[in-house]
Formats: sequence, structure tokens, C-alpha cells
Amino acid sequence: MSRFFSKPCTRRAFLRASSAAAVASVIPLTLMCHKPEENELSGLSSLRQAAADKGIEFGAAVEAVHLKDPDLYDAFVNECGLCVPEWSMKWASVRPDASRWSWDEADALVSFAENHAIKVRGHTLVWYAALPDWAKEKILTGQAERLMDEHIQQMMTHFQGRICSWDVVNEALEPQDNLEGCLRASPWLTALGPRYLDKAFFLAAQYDPMAQRVYNDYAVESNPVKANALIALLRGLKERGVPIDAVGLQAHLSVTRAFEPLQALCKAIKEMDLDLLITEMDVEDLSPFEGNAEQDRRVADTAKAFLDIVFSVMKPKQILTWGLSDRHTWLADPKWNGRNPLGLPVRPLPLDRACLRKPLWNILYEQFEAL
Ligand code: G3I
Repeated sequence: MSRFFSKPCTRRAFLRASSAAAVASVIPLTLMCHKPEENELSGLSSLRQAAADKGIEFGAAVEAVHLKDPDLYDAFVNECGLCVPEWSMKWASVRPDASRWSWDEADALVSFAENHAIKVRGHTLVWYAALPDWAKEKILTGQAERLMDEHIQQMMTHFQGRICSWDVVNEALEPQDNLEGCLRASPWLTALGPRYLDKAFFLAAQYDPMAQRVYNDYAVESNPVKANALIALLRGLKERGVPIDAVGLQAHLSVTRAFEPLQALCKAIKEMDLDLLITEMDVEDLSPFEGNAEQDRRVADTAKAFLDIVFSVMKPKQILTWGLSDRHTWLADPKWNGRNPLGLPVRPLPLDRACLRKPLWNILYEQFEAL
């Protein structure tokens, strides 16, 4: 009998407890049940349930460290059936140097998710950013293919069967770099040429065949040049038999940007028989501040306009916001106390800083209910 347990310890119980212990090292297990504040939207079910009822997985980006916050913990478990690590599966987090792999943060998040039947997206295997200097140097000195293979193998093997969907390649397009196909100038492109995307998807199919393989990018909902480049990129991948399953529209929206290319882009994605994911939705509002209610309305109206166009063409398999509460958003540096560099309040997400539901929450809820 193990000294940790009051009853015979089965292997499964030990593994569950040890994973719980791993989580507890980051997220206090003795979280008191919280009776969060309420508002007029509190009585409605949850985005997790409303989406699931219509065959959509709803979730948000998060990190285990954020979940030490009891209000956010409770809200996340209630509202999300899906999560994606905002940082802890990126190269710079997992491989701070060439000699070691750092799994603790990502493992804690995956264990938390599994303890609450929340699915996990992987973000991201091949990206130009969050690349440590040692990796850039190896990529640019003839070791790119070996390093990509090793990284994808290690990431997908470590989380084998626990990640429903991977952003295999992230943000490979940048029209401002003026390269063929609007490809982004990146260490991967320099080292391997445009076929680095093909290599990444074939490696992903090899190392975890069951995980959905996604190409993920931003601004394609509002930039016609980038949208057309994405359509051409996807057609090329499909024509070459590259094993891509889905397209992630990050959907970092702004109240001032229209969605001129969006409907045609969604139609092209549907015609190519690719699934559509909304992977990182939030809404930035740099308009003159006229009070929280006015900003929340502009944010909600923008999201509704975007979702109406998407849903007029096809139903996304997954919809995630890039954070659940305004308490944690990349658009507001923590040291600015929830404001942006202009000193304006930042309210881009479904819940406010008190984890209360906002008009954006209601727009999402109504979108699911209307299906
Ligand atoms: O946590 C580490 C800390 O341990 C370390 O000492 C410090 C040293 O710089 O870095 C800290 O990590 C920061 C990380 O966020 C976690 O807070 C990084 O500096 C910082 O660069 C990183 O920023 C993230 C950014 O991607 C770059 O990876 C943002 O939080 C994240 O919201 C943003 O998310 C991206 C998506 O991955 C791709 N789509 C666009 C989206 C917004 O830019």
C-alpha cells in the first residue's frame, strides 16, 4: 500500500493523482467553489454547452498560471470545452536551449484540461516567431530539416493522442515582404524554400496521424491580398497532396476594419473540402473611448458582422477566443492595468476583468442558439 493513499493504489489512480499533483504545483487543487458575481446574462447556460449542442467546440487560449485565479478557473471550466496554450507549447517555451525540453507548463495545462473533459489544441509546431536564437542559428546553418523533424516528432510524441488539433504552420504569409506567393521572410523559408510547409504537414501526419492538421494565419478576413495569397497557398498544398485538414482564421479583429474578402475566402475553403476553425478571436477597439458600454457594443457588433459572414458559408468546427476574460489579453500589457499603450481600456473578450459576461459573450451565445 503506497504511503500516499488510504486505499490500494491502482496505477490509474496513481497517475491521476500524480497528474493532479503536477497541476496542483501550478494550480491550487483546493480551489474553493466560487460564487462569482452575476449579471443579466448569468442565468443562461454556457458557451461550451450552447456550442456543443450545435456540434461546435468553443474554447479559449489560456495558460496554467492564469488558472491560479479562482474566478477565471471556474469561468473557464464552465464556458470552455476546448483550450489552446497561449505560450507554453511554443519553441521558446518548450526548448529554451538546445540541451533540454521544458514540458512542465504545457503538461500542467493539458492535465487541467483532461481533468475537466476540455479538449486541447496544439500551438504551434512551425512558426517564424518565438524561435530561440540557438534554433534560428541551426536552421540557417544547414540543420533546418533535421531540427524540424526532431521538433515535430518530440512535440507530437510527447502529447500523443492528447491534442485534438495542431497549428502545424503558423503565419507563413506576409505580403509586405514582397516575396513570391506573399510568403513571409522567415528562417524556415530561407533554409528550406516554400516547400517547408509541405515538409511540416507530412511530418505532422507521420508523428500523430489522428490530430487535425491546421494552417493558421491572421488578417485574411480583412486583407484581400493576403486572403488571395492564402487561397493560392491552400490550393497548392492540396494539389501536391499535402495532408492538410483545416484552416485556422485567427480573427484578431478590429472595430475599424471591414471584412471585404471574408465570404469569398470561406467559400474557397469550403470548396477545397477543408474544415474551418476560428482560432484566436478577439476584437481591438482603438476608437475614442466613450465608456465601457459603448466599447462593448462596438466590439460585439464587429464580432457579429464577422460571424454572420462566416456562418453564411459554413459552420466552423472550433471557435476559440484569444483569452476568455479581459483580465488576460495580449492587447493589454499586465503593467498597464488592463489598458493599451494609448491608455485606453482594453475589452476584447467574452468576459470582463471580473469574469462577468459581456455583449460579446451574448453575440457568441446567440450565434450558437440560432444554428
Ligand atoms: O513567460 C516567459 C518568461 O518566463 C520569460 O522570462 C520571458 C522572457 O521574455 O518571456 C515570457 O514569455 C512571454 C510570453 O508571451 C508569456 O507571457 C514572451 O516574452 C512573450 O513574447 C509572449 O508573447 C506572446 C506572443 O504570442 C509571442 O509568443 C503573447 O502572450 C501571445 O498572446 C501571442 O499570441 C500570438 C499567437 O501565438 C499567434 N497569433 C498572434 C497572437 C498575438 O500576437
